Amino acid sequence: MKDSKFEKVLLDEGTIRARVIELGLQLTRDYAGKTPTLICVLRGASSFFADLSREIELPIFEDFIAISSYGDKTSTSGEVKLVKDVAEGIEGKDVVLVEDIVDSGNSMKYIKELFAARKPASIKVCAFLDKPSRRTVDFQADYVGFTVPDEFLVGYGLDYGQRFRNLKDVRVLAAEVYGGKK
Ligand code: PRP
Repeated sequence: MKDSKFEKVLLDEGTIRARVIELGLQLTRDYAGKTPTLICVLRGASSFFADLSREIELPIFEDFIAISSYGDKTSTSGEVKLVKDVAEGIEGKDVVLVEDIVDSGNSMKYIKELFAARKPASIKVCAFLDKPSRRTVDFQADYVGFTVPDEFLVGYGLDYGQRFRNLKDVRVLAAEVYGGKK
């Protein structure tokens, strides 16, 4: 990889595309006969959500929430804020929270519990990436695109200081860029 900002491409475009199609098929099978509500967890999940939702061959509802736990820092503050709530109520609905990455597990554990209290018919989490080595709370996503190592990842929605979200692949950021402290 010529660009010195990145160590390597971890997941290339084709690999991502193939896995998103598989996840779409799996959700299509699992929610057959239902109209699931896919909730995009902004901002990181926007790319994954756009691609995944179009691979689900069912009627779906789409909604959006924004949470913030990291801000522009690189490690979690442990505090999760619901910056923007859903537009429609979720009571009685089959909810799928669509997230870019489960790291410490803090964000999704908090949001899943918060939304479960609103009495949906069901609630599941679909995460593009899972970094189990960073987990500090007991949480497991129901659907996972890729299990990834503890590297600083950017692209396909993931950022460093709000940059690199629009890369079509997932790359490992060079330690010199982020100062070596994940
Ligand atoms: C990132 C990411 C997840 C969360 C994962 O969000 O998008 O929501 O952190 O970390 P956790 O499992 O340790 O809680 P961030 O707050 O950086 O916002 P963003 O989605 O706007 O990038």
